[in-house]
Amino acid sequence: MCPGRCIVILDWRSKIVIKIEPYTFGDEKLRYDGLNSSKDHLLPWIPYAENYTMEKSKIWIENAIKAFSAGTEYAFKILNEQENFLGEVRLINVTINPYERQANIALWIQKDFAGQGVASAALKLATDFAFNDLKLQRLQFMVLPDNERSIGLIRKVGGQYEGQLRNQWSFDGVMKHPLLFSLTPAS
Ligand SMILES: CC(C)(COP(=O)(O)OP(=O)(O)OC[C@H]1O[C@@H](n2cnc3c(N)ncnc32)[C@H](O)[C@@H]1OP(=O)(O)O)[C@@H](O)C(=O)NCCC(=O)NCCS
Repeated sequence: MCPGRCIVILDWRSKIVIKIEPYTFGDEKLRYDGLNSSKDHLLPWIPYAENYTMEKSKIWIENAIKAFSAGTEYAFKILNEQENFLGEVRLINVTINPYERQANIALWIQKDFAGQGVASAALKLATDFAFNDLKLQRLQFMVLPDNERSIGLIRKVGGQYEGQLRNQWSFDGVMKHPLLFSLTPAS
């Protein structure tokens, strides 16, 4: 059974069903536990995994729900058939105007579920939502040059390398220069 926005992962390492669903009120513990239990795996790529509290999580979930309704950001939790929380995929900085239809992708997978094809499948579901439901024409993925797993992931799903963004991020006051990849409906 695969109802709604879900996909069966047919990976040589696993055969599991995953789905993506918008966060709902009460999900703060889910995200808090997920980020904290995988902290070592997520740092240094996800700086907010440091000192992530239940209070921060509650505020974050409330804002995510508001942003989803407003169409400025679409945050999805990634679940398996048993409703285990595997990670998250988000469309952020959604820009829709007469000249642009684009968003950036952000995602992370819990350590225990990594390496099974979950991120590739979740990305497929999120890009399907972006291109078919929102009718976006471009998705951007920014990744630090030493984040080999994420570079492997974006290349695997057809991301095209476009260049390096100087001073794009500041992590604790240290400037970071991520690589920019893009996906389009045709890629
Ligand atoms: C990057 C990340 C999302 C990948 O999730 P995942 O579910 O393990 O990825 P998948 O199993 O779908 O693998 C997809 C590809 O990623 C790459 N990859 C995944 N794990 C890897 C590893 N340990 N070493 C090298 N490459 C790896 C491979 O190219 C892989 O394709 P392959 O299996 O055909 O070789 C996950 O490791 C993560 O959450 N990392 C920390 C957070 C992060 O970096 N987020 C992105 C910020 S830009």
